[in-house]
Amino acid sequence: MPRFPLLALAVLAAGTAALSQPVRVEERRLAEVERGRAIAEARCAACHAVTANGTSPNPESPGFEDIANRRGLTSATLRQYLRDAHNYPEAMQFRIDRGQVRDLSAYIVTLKRADYKPAI
Ligand code: HEC
Repeated sequence: MPRFPLLALAVLAAGTAALSQPVRVEERRLAEVERGRAIAEARCAACHAVTANGTSPNPESPGFEDIANRRGLTSATLRQYLRDAHNYPEAMQFRIDRGQVRDLSAYIVTLKRADYKPAI
């Protein structure tokens, strides 16, 4: 009998470690999304609608909801686009660092909707 509780403890510890891994990943993603939204509001909202159902102040800038719901868009393709400063349209002459790109992408993909219908 003295051995059993130790074994049970070991199994419990292993189980807890396995469980906390995805929880930490999810927490990190949520933190990215929150920072990304703040960056979008500070750096992008002068031109783009940065939240769902918004209207872009600059009509030539697609809303982030439109961008998020483009077919085939993933946070990876978006990160690629945002990292490659040479791809920026003329109007967007500024640099954002890799951490900000990751945060922005994490935020923008939260605007994906299964039932999304483009405004036009
Ligand atoms: C000064 C205005 C301005 C600001 C500020 C701005 N954008 Fe843009 N952005 C534009 C315009 C205009 C376009 C569309 C250009 C085009 O389609 O040729 C665009 C296009 C984009 C696209 C590509 C959409 C597509 O057609 O595929 C992405 C992604 C994007 N912007 C992200 C951002 C992010 C993220 C920020 C903030 C860090 C930002 N933009 C800030 C004006 C702006």
